[in-house]
Amino acid sequence: MRTTAFHFPVQGKRPEEVLREISRKRTEDFGWKDGKMFGFVYYPGDEIAEILENVFRLYMHDNTLNPTMFCSVRAMENELVAMVGDLLHGSRDTTGSVTSGGTESILMAMKVARDRKREEMPGITPEVIVPTTAHPAFDKAAHYLDMKLLHAPVDQDFRVDVTKMESLVTRRTAMLVGSAPCFPYGVVDPIAGIAGLARQHGLLCHVDACMGGLMLPFLEKLGYPVTPFDFRVKGVTSISADMHKYGYAAKGVSLILYRDPELRKRQFFITTEWPGGIFASNSLLGSKSGGPVAAAWTVVKLMGLKGYMANAAAVMNAVKKIQEGIRETGGLDIAGHPEMSVFAVKSDRYDIHAIGDELAKRGWFVDRLQYPACIHLTVNSLQVGKEEDFLDDLGDAVAAVKSQNHASPVNRLIIAAVTGLSGLLPEKLFGKLMDSASRLIPAGDNSSGHRALYGISTNIKNRHNLKEMITCIYDKIYRAR
Ligand SMILES: Cc1ncc(COP(=O)(O)O)c(C=O)c1O
Repeated sequence: MRTTAFHFPVQGKRPEEVLREISRKRTEDFGWKDGKMFGFVYYPGDEIAEILENVFRLYMHDNTLNPTMFCSVRAMENELVAMVGDLLHGSRDTTGSVTSGGTESILMAMKVARDRKREEMPGITPEVIVPTTAHPAFDKAAHYLDMKLLHAPVDQDFRVDVTKMESLVTRRTAMLVGSAPCFPYGVVDPIAGIAGLARQHGLLCHVDACMGGLMLPFLEKLGYPVTPFDFRVKGVTSISADMHKYGYAAKGVSLILYRDPELRKRQFFITTEWPGGIFASNSLLGSKSGGPVAAAWTVVKLMGLKGYMANAAAVMNAVKKIQEGIRETGGLDIAGHPEMSVFAVKSDRYDIHAIGDELAKRGWFVDRLQYPACIHLTVNSLQVGKEEDFLDDLGDAVAAVKSQNHASPVNRLIIAAVTGLSGLLPEKLFGKLMDSASRLIPAGDNSSGHRALYGISTNIKNRHNLKEMITCIYDKIYRAR
C-alpha cells in the first residue's frame, strides 16, 4: 500500500528520462524570458548569463562555510563587499558579508542591533522602528530574534514621517530603519532625517537598499535626482544591498555592510565547546555553495560601473515610456513619486486588482498591493523593448474592466474568493470563512483571481482568520501531489 505521495526511487533513472521529466515540469513555470514578469527575475542578458552559468557550475560544489579551504571564494566575498562598499561611499573601515538574500542581510542587521542593545541593557526586548512600508523581512527578523518592531506611519508621498518615528523612540529602541527605496512605492525614505534622529539618540540606523543599492548609485551618476541614502549620510550605520536584484547576479546573493567593523563582530556566530571542534560562521547559513558568490563577483567584473550605468539608463527609459503610457490610459496614476524603476499604479476610477487579473489573462505578472489597492511593477532589463506590448495589453485590460458590471464588486470578490479557495481550505476553516462572508454573498459568480483574494482580505475583519487561511493554503500547496 502507498503510504506517501512519492516513493524514494529504488532504481536510478537514465539521464534522458530525468531531463525529460524536468522539461515537463518546467512547462508549468512562468516563462519570464519574454519580459512579461515584472520582478522576481533580473536578467543580465544571454551573453553575460552564459558566463555566469559557467562560473556558477565551476564553484557549485565548493562550500564557503570553510574560509580556509575555499580561499578563492572567500577572496571574492571580501572583494564584493569592498567593491559595493566603495560604490556606496564607505571607507577602508567598511566591512560586511555576503548573505543568501535581502532577508538574511536584514536578519543580520537586526541581530547586531539586538546584541548591541542587550549589552547596554541586559534582559530587555530591544525595539526597532521601521516605516510601515519597510519589507516584511524586518517583521520576520523581529519574530525570529525576539525583538519588538514598531511601525512608523508614512506621509502622503509614502515616505516615513520622521517626527512620528521620533515619537516611538523609547529607552529600549536599538535601531531606526529607512528604505532606499521601499518595495511598494519605490520611494526613498528621508534617510538623512532618520540617521540624524538615530545619532541624536545614540541609535543604529539601517538603510534597506536591497532594491536600490545596485541601482540608485548609477542613477545618481546619470544625473537623476536621488535622495541621499548611503554612507555619505552621517549616522547611517549599516546598509543591505541585493546583488540578485539590480546587481543582475544569479539568485542567492545579497550584501550586508557596516560602517564600523565593531558592529559586524556581533554578527558572527562562534562556539568553542562543541565536540565537533571550534565552530564559526559569519552569517546565518552553515554550508553554502560557492556558485552564487562566484557568479555575483563575475557579473560585477563583467559589467563594471559603465555597464551598470548603461543598463540603468535603458531601464529608466523603459520606465518613462511605461509611466507615460499609464498616465495616458486615463483613470490610472502612479502612486507617490518613485525614484527608480519600482512603482505602483493606482486608480480611483477602476478596480485596479481587476485590471491586474485582466493583465494576467494576457500573460503578464504584476504584483498586487493593499492600503491602497495598487498593481506593482518592477522594471528591469527584461522589460526593455517590451513597453509597447505591455501598454497595448494594459489598454485592453482597462477596456475589459470598463465593460464589466461592477454593481457590487465586493460581493463578486467575496464569492469568487470563496469559490476559488473552497478546494484548498480544510472544512472547518472554510466553514468559518463562509460564515464571515455569507452575509455578503449573492449566488452565481465564478470569477476568480487576486482581486478575489484581496476582496477577502479587505473584508475580513478578523485578521487572525485571514492569517490562518493563508497558513492552510501554504500547508496545502507545499505538499507533493
Ligand atoms: C526593499 C526590500 N528589502 C528586502 C527584500 C527581501 O529580499 P529577498 O527576497 O532577497 O530576501 C526585498 C525583496 O523584494 C525588498 O524589496
